[in-house]
Amino acid sequence: MTSDQPIGVFDSGVGGLTVLKEIRRELPAEDLLYIADSGYAPYGDKPLEAIEARALVLTEFLIARGAKAVVVACNTATGAAARLLRARYPVPIIAMEPAVKPALGLTRSGVIGVLATRATLASPSFSLLLERLGAGARFLLQPCPGLVERVEAGDLDGESTRALVADYLNPLLARGADTVVLGCTHYPYLTPVILDLAGPAVAVLDSGAAVARQVRHRLASVGLLADPGRTGTERFWTSGCPVAGHGLVTRLWGGPVALESLPDGSSVG
Ligand code: DGL
Repeated sequence: MTSDQPIGVFDSGVGGLTVLKEIRRELPAEDLLYIADSGYAPYGDKPLEAIEARALVLTEFLIARGAKAVVVACNTATGAAARLLRARYPVPIIAMEPAVKPALGLTRSGVIGVLATRATLASPSFSLLLERLGAGARFLLQPCPGLVERVEAGDLDGESTRALVADYLNPLLARGADTVVLGCTHYPYLTPVILDLAGPAVAVLDSGAAVARQVRHRLASVGLLADPGRTGTERFWTSGCPVAGHGLVTRLWGGPVALESLPDGSSVG
């Protein structure tokens, strides 16, 4: 393994770009490989075995392209498969953890809302996280079916997206939540709508920046950080239609992107 090998990152779709952005900010010298598994999104309502199977296929693909570390930029895939990936592959696997700990430091009302997919909230790793850290507050867990689809459709602030966000958020606010944890990497794109509905007194937290720091820390600990004098590159793949997905990935990444089709062997689950 050498330090000039890339970092692989995957998500069920475009949500992991919120994490990729933070990794780019934290580690400008690193080459980054990103897979949007949009052909299989959303993961959140799929059986555990199906999510595990996709996580294995995508991790294999990234390692075959030389990834020196793999970032599971998806809370749902983290809950379903992070342990399996760590047991199976020799490279560092960095995964998501909802921002429960920072939320505990911020809440004044002692009521914290968590927005995530059904699968994430039902996962043993999330239950363990709350068991380990959650004693100091009341957590209101809100599954949000349909929200990932709104983001994948590129509708970040349209009427139906706002209505769906309001449906999920308002009951949490009514019960006194003053801090909202975004437990899905697609949701940071909805932060403006959430703040608009909740008002400035409510804190909205995601864990993209913390994961990026974790990537730096893990690579530094094994001596695999890229030479800081180089300029990192990005490569993007999708298991959906690259022509249809190109506009959204370009828009969310904030710069020109060549979106490649994930090869067939990797597109079959
Ligand atoms: N970005 C994924 C997550 O963090 C979305 C899951 C899904 O596809 O439902 O959970």
